[in-house]
Order: sequence, then C-alpha cells, then structure tokens
Amino acid sequence: MHKTGIEKEVAGQVGNRTKNDGDVDSWTEVNLIYKAALKQIQTKVEILNDEFQHTHRYNPIEHIKVRIKTPESIVKKLKRHGYESTIDNMIKYVNDIAGIRIICSFTSDIYRIAEMLEKQKDIRIYSVKDYITYPKENGYKSYHMLVTVPVYLSDRIEDTKVEIQIRTVAMDFWASLEHKMHYKFEGDAPEHIKKELVECAKLVSDLDVRMLTLNEEILALTAYKNGKQQ
Ligand code: GTP
Ligand code: MG
Repeated sequence: MHKTGIEKEVAGQVGNRTKNDGDVDSWTEVNLIYKAALKQIQTKVEILNDEFQHTHRYNPIEHIKVRIKTPESIVKKLKRHGYESTIDNMIKYVNDIAGIRIICSFTSDIYRIAEMLEKQKDIRIYSVKDYITYPKENGYKSYHMLVTVPVYLSDRIEDTKVEIQIRTVAMDFWASLEHKMHYKFEGDAPEHIKKELVECAKLVSDLDVRMLTLNEEILALTAYKNGKQQ
C-alpha cells in the first residue's frame, strides 16, 4: 500500500529508518513547531501562577501536563474522520496535536485561568467548550480551549494550535478512570459500570462545591483573624 506523510514517519519509527526522507523531515519540523507552541503556553501559564502566588499568596494551579500526540494517534484520528494521512491534513484537521492539561484545586480557579489566558493579545481563541457548566451525558467535566499561538521561526511566523484542558483535581481523577474504562472496553463498557461512573461524577461535583465553600470559609476566617491582630 502506498504510504504518505506521517504514515511514512510511523513506518519509519517502527522500522527504525534513517531520517533523510523529505516527508519525515517536514514531520520533524512540524513536530518542532507544535513543541514550541506548547512551551509558550506552558510558560504563560506558569507566569500567571507565579504572579498569582505573589499577589494573592496562593497557587491556583496544582500541576500541568503537556503532551504531543503520537504519529500513530494522529494517523488513527485522520483515518477515523476519513482523511488521508498527510502533513497538511494533520495540521488542518487534528486540533489536539499539542495538548496541555492544567489541573487546579477549585472550579473558580478554572475560570480565573481561562480568563487570564483569553486576555493575552498573542493568544487567539479558536473555540471554547465549557463542559463544567454543560457536563457531558456521561458526567465528564472540564473546560476546553482551542487556541493558536504565534511561533516565531527564523524566516516566518506560524500560528499554531494548542488544545488547553482546564479541570480540578477531582474532575481529573474521574476523567482518568473514565478514559481507562473506555480504553479497556473499547467503547463497549457494561451498563452498570457506566451508571456507576455517572454517580461518581455527581459525587465529584458535590465534592468540588463543598471544597470550594470550605476554602472560602477558611480564607474569610483567616482574613478576619489577621484583621483583629493588626
Ligand atoms: P476528540 O476528537 O476526542 O479529541 O474530541 P473533540 O475534538 O470533539 O473535542 P472535545 O473538546 O470534546 O474533547 C477533547 C478531548 O477532551 C478529548 O481528546 C479527551 O482528551 C477529552 N475528553 C472529551 N470528552 C471526554 C470524556 O467523555 N471522557 C474523558 N475521559 N475525556 C474526554
Ligand atoms: Mg483528543
């Protein structure tokens, strides 16, 4: 079978082929650009976290995970959507090649971070999916932003797509298990497990609300105590 673009790269990786192939070189270059875009977003988020720590004495971000989609997953996704595996199609149709997941303690932090990112002039918002206000039927909650960020190369500027997912620790815990279930049962999970996950999603939402309320109470009480001491 004739193989093009990234499929060749996949074959190349499997067969441990050398890199002096035009298509492979362009995949390597594209990969480099996505990595650069991811680094920029990660740095921006870290700066916001540091600034927040400085002014409010508190970190809205628990941790950050970044990843570049593997060539195998890119090819799989293109096939699933009926596109040929070419570099052009991958840039055009696969929106989550560069992905960053920002894990926060509280739901309020999610919107705070999203708002701070939206305000940055060099970030262009492509689309937003608020699965927190509108959770998916299976119970999935997360805030998704698809953005572009300019990557400055020696001879040009490439506006590059990055998928940003922002969620709480509890939402992330749920999503990891749900993802594992999907993976294990290949989309054909037993009904009782799916039902139990929906129940767990409700518990996660309750937990997030209670933890946020508790945190606000702790902050208010410490502010009151500190005020009295002055
Ligand atoms: P994909 O083609 O699956 O990437 O989704 P999409 O292009 O329709 O975008 P969406 O914003 O809905 O989802 C983007 C990503 O969010 C997915 O690739 C997953 O990482 C995550 N995600 C979305 N829905 C679910 C879900 O129901 N469960 C879990 N565990 N993760 C999800
Ligand atoms: Mg995805």
